[in-house]
Amino acid sequence: KKVVLAYSGGLDTSVMLHWLRANYGCEVICFCADVGQGEELAGLHEKARRTGAAKLYIEDLRAEFVRDFVWMAVKANAVYEGVYLLGTSLARPVIAKKQIEIARREGADAVAHGATGKGNDQVRFELTYYALEPEIKVIAPWREWEFKGRSDLIAYAQEHGIPVTATVEKPYSMDRNLMHISYEGGILEDPWAEPPAEIFQLTKAPEEARPEPEYIELEFERGVPIGINGQRMDPVALLEHLNRVGGEHGIGRVDLVENRFVGMKSRGVYETPGVTILHVAHRALESITMDREVMRLRDALSLKFAELVYYGFWFSPEMEVLRRTIDETQANVTGEVRLKLYRGNAIVVGRRAPRSLYSEKLATFEADQIYDQRDAEGFIKLNALRLRTLARLRD
Ligand code: ARG
Ligand code: SIN
Repeated sequence: KKVVLAYSGGLDTSVMLHWLRANYGCEVICFCADVGQGEELAGLHEKARRTGAAKLYIEDLRAEFVRDFVWMAVKANAVYEGVYLLGTSLARPVIAKKQIEIARREGADAVAHGATGKGNDQVRFELTYYALEPEIKVIAPWREWEFKGRSDLIAYAQEHGIPVTATVEKPYSMDRNLMHISYEGGILEDPWAEPPAEIFQLTKAPEEARPEPEYIELEFERGVPIGINGQRMDPVALLEHLNRVGGEHGIGRVDLVENRFVGMKSRGVYETPGVTILHVAHRALESITMDREVMRLRDALSLKFAELVYYGFWFSPEMEVLRRTIDETQANVTGEVRLKLYRGNAIVVGRRAPRSLYSEKLATFEADQIYDQRDAEGFIKLNALRLRTLARLRD
């Protein structure tokens, strides 16, 4: 028997590695995905081996994550419950997909992950596993073992000589990748309590951000960001750059109480500097390149897209239809947007596109030939027909 464990080298997954061997008598293959969490990956091989892993795979998924998942969410204008840009939700399917690939390569019969039984992440991992490999066996130790919290895990680690690097425990839980950092739990559970200033790692507080505004120009091709200030950049470099610039200006912090798929409400705090700027810019470019009724349709699809991502249905037939449709709406979303970044704000100040639908000639109030103001009278009268019929009944 062989299991592939999504492993980070932290306390939870180190204990899991040992526990899986002890309780399932199986060989454990560890898999660590690099999605830009910025953790030290050197020394991980040694650590996994000393904890009892048969093998460790470290896979750099950053380019795939940004290109296929983050950029798709930008094209879709995906926002969950008004403000959450889905940084964690988007990373789960790319990790789980690679985990299944490794399970196949290794001929493993099971996969395991470190998510708890109370959250969204377990759903996202497992829906992806089953969608890609219907007969796979899934082990979620947090739903099975008797450990209640960190102190139980530390005790188990000490008892079994599991090497754990003593890290200062943060009084909340964090998830970091190239797109964002999320904070929840612990001291953040009181939805009235403001997050302490020192938790934030990617952004300055708006009141401490640079006092001068900064202008940037973003270039898009078919809805996908391709360059900054006239310079082409690959997806990872582009997002890293925007995270830095946005962070300097205090852009992209949000704080909400969100509805988890499993039914509970949960308070989440996020910093998503780069993608916040991209969302603002992308919408501005759509405003001159997208037909009004296509935009209405797409806006309805954005909500559905965000919900499916949050719930973990990246690999589903309905999502495939959505992705294709959204891609189609982006055919003309090519051009540039100019923004002013200033103290927590990304303010659009200009937009231009080779295939713009905006016509100065049409919008202008000067006399012209395309638009005859007399046409408006009939247009309004016919639209008023129903309203007048109703109004007459009221007398
Ligand atoms: N609530 C967010 C989401 O469901 C963030 C989850 C963070 N996950 C974590 N393991 N810390 O997408
Ligand atoms: C977890 O419970 O593992 C993290 C939170 C979540 O998945 O929503």
